[in-house]
Amino acid sequence: MARDPRYDILFEPLKIGPVTAPNRFYQVPHCNGMGRVYPNAMIGMRGMKAEGGWGIVCTEQCDFLASGDASPYAETNMWDKGDETYLGRMVEEVHRYGSLAGIELVHNGHDTPNLYSREIPFGPMHRPMNWSLAPIQARAMDKEDIRTYRRAHRKAALRACDIGFDLIIVYAGHDGTVPSHFLAREHNQRTDEYGGSLENRLRLFRELLEETKEAIGDTAAVTVRFAVDEMMGPAGLEWQNEGREAVEMLAELPDLWDVNVADWSNDSKTSRFAPEGYQEEYVAFVKKVTTKPVSTVGRYTSPDAMVSAIRRGIVDLIGAARPSIADPFLPKKVEEGRLEDIRECIGCNVCVGWTQMTAPARCTQNPTFGEEWRKGWHPEIVSKAEREEHVLIVGAGPAGLEAARVAGLQGHRVTLAEAEEELGGRVTRESRLPGLSAWARVRDYRVGQIGRMANVEVYRASRLTAAQVLELGADHVAIATGSTWRRDGFGRHLTTPVPGTGAAHVLTPDDILAGGRPPGSKVLLFDDDHYYMASVIAELLSAEGYEVTLATPLPEVASWMVHTLEHGANHERLHGAGVTLMPNTMLTAVESGRVLLRDTLRRREVELAADGIVMVTSRLPEDGLFHELQQAIEAASGGGPRTLRRVGDCQAPGIIATAVYEGHRYTRELGVEVDPCEVPFRREWRVIEAGMA
Ligand SMILES: Cc1cc2nc3c(=O)[nH]c(=O)nc-3n(C[C@H](O)[C@H](O)[C@H](O)COP(=O)(O)O)c2cc1C
Ligand code: SF4
Repeated sequence: MARDPRYDILFEPLKIGPVTAPNRFYQVPHCNGMGRVYPNAMIGMRGMKAEGGWGIVCTEQCDFLASGDASPYAETNMWDKGDETYLGRMVEEVHRYGSLAGIELVHNGHDTPNLYSREIPFGPMHRPMNWSLAPIQARAMDKEDIRTYRRAHRKAALRACDIGFDLIIVYAGHDGTVPSHFLAREHNQRTDEYGGSLENRLRLFRELLEETKEAIGDTAAVTVRFAVDEMMGPAGLEWQNEGREAVEMLAELPDLWDVNVADWSNDSKTSRFAPEGYQEEYVAFVKKVTTKPVSTVGRYTSPDAMVSAIRRGIVDLIGAARPSIADPFLPKKVEEGRLEDIRECIGCNVCVGWTQMTAPARCTQNPTFGEEWRKGWHPEIVSKAEREEHVLIVGAGPAGLEAARVAGLQGHRVTLAEAEEELGGRVTRESRLPGLSAWARVRDYRVGQIGRMANVEVYRASRLTAAQVLELGADHVAIATGSTWRRDGFGRHLTTPVPGTGAAHVLTPDDILAGGRPPGSKVLLFDDDHYYMASVIAELLSAEGYEVTLATPLPEVASWMVHTLEHGANHERLHGAGVTLMPNTMLTAVESGRVLLRDTLRRREVELAADGIVMVTSRLPEDGLFHELQQAIEAASGGGPRTLRRVGDCQAPGIIATAVYEGHRYTRELGVEVDPCEVPFRREWRVIEAGMA
């Protein structure tokens, strides 16, 4: 198919200083939990973005001094020659597809824990670090430190040019780098020429830019990543005053302005808290004060929104981190007029969550992310099966839909049977909760794909029995029937049933998702799940007029959301909705009209009036059909399908990303003899030195 001429502008080359980007798709720096620790995986992932048409592909933040060591996060380093090998390979991979490679040089200043290097962190002032509240304090940089820092930045820039990077990014963003710390009034109370006036606070950033340019000349573009607003109101940098003035003061110095907001939680906002293009209002001024190209971010997945941002004069380039993770081939699909094939990011920040846990990132929409090298999974290419077989998948939730899609691509005859009229399972149900509508994209992409496959038949409202499954005579059967929330309180903290939870006024998220509502007006939500579910149900019920109390055994509600950067926004939302929070609280019994709780901090029992209770604790697999089939097949001793498997929540309830991944994996491994004693992927090895000199 040909490209729609409406999108031509996205494919116009753009001159950025001495280099030219082949198009307007800019994969901005993003961590991935692989970096220097799993470099082959990182290279495979970046190469895939270039293959998919991103005109510029950047590294994640790359620290260039041992005193700026971002361990334990698996990011990149540019400390010495040793780093040239894997970064050079990344550049090669990106260049192979005609894209430009960018590197984001960073020193996280007083936020650097230096857990590996044991160097003392430094920043504009003596101060304790915020990172994980570790008991570490940074020291104020003296003039010698500033000179060392500048020299190291220059050296790293030269090294990056030597190994072929086309863009050197000077990074003053996210409230997380030395130049941004110097710029921020709250971090910089120095009285020397680096403190006080905006000109002084901007001095270090200017010096870095000038020195980098002077050092590398026209070998590569020198660009900036700059946060124009700290989102703290007048206490911080705002785009209407100092944010704008800073851009005006450095306007023509960089070859590209990549602008966004700080801190990271404001920049990578989830779809629950911000729509596509949410940063435009903050950065719209930038193109008015510089002649240099401008780029911004904002979870852009729609080519129309991208074209509009360019045509309205807000940007020249479309920056994207998450959209490029969810679909590395987004640009190619626009170019080839295949918009219906775009796998749009749902804005859940599971990718962020895993990097925050210092693990290789995973993506809800793209199960191949991080597996490009390790498992050899290509996001768009699935090999044809050696012979066509009949694959029956029972359950069209996220795992079942993904399994059906991949089996369809493999050329199998696929039957997908869903008990409900609607497809999508939990994704469909959960996407109706406040703020989660974008999650339906997990279903829509897959339903759209299999809808065009003649070899995939979908049966709705078809609840199959074991006998019916066997009658269909499929070669392979996958049971993807999901999971059910527990009502009895079993979770992380309580592992015996809470008395009274069998009563009719005790509900679960499944009841709420099915349209059930607690009786009366006072509701207690008990959250031992610690992710989004209890909070969004609290928000829903509160909007419907209930008086909602959310109790949790931990010191804070929805604690895991700290990893998805939603913790603060979630709290704000709950407070705004008038939800009463009861941390450090255990549920001990449910009675008619009241609950008995234990305040674990004060070690005392508390009684609370509650007409209804919603238990958000844990789930059990819906695996009855699987076990029936297993028994039937055993009893028949012979016959039946060649393979019978459970996939997704039906095997072990988890996040949607896990269900999609397991559905994908099931089909990739269909017919392949897998020895569970063997490691199911390629490993990365470090060189071990022969002797300890
Ligand atoms: C997993 C992840 C890691 C990120 N790591 C970095 C980073 O290393 N450096 C950086 O400047 N921004 C980083 N960001 C922020 C993104 O570059 C981007 O500005 C932000 O996600 C908003 O863009 P998007 O809506 O296209 O994702 C990261 C974002 C994500 C999702
Ligand atoms: S994990 Fe979620 S937010 Fe991250 S890229 Fe994938 S879909 Fe988007």
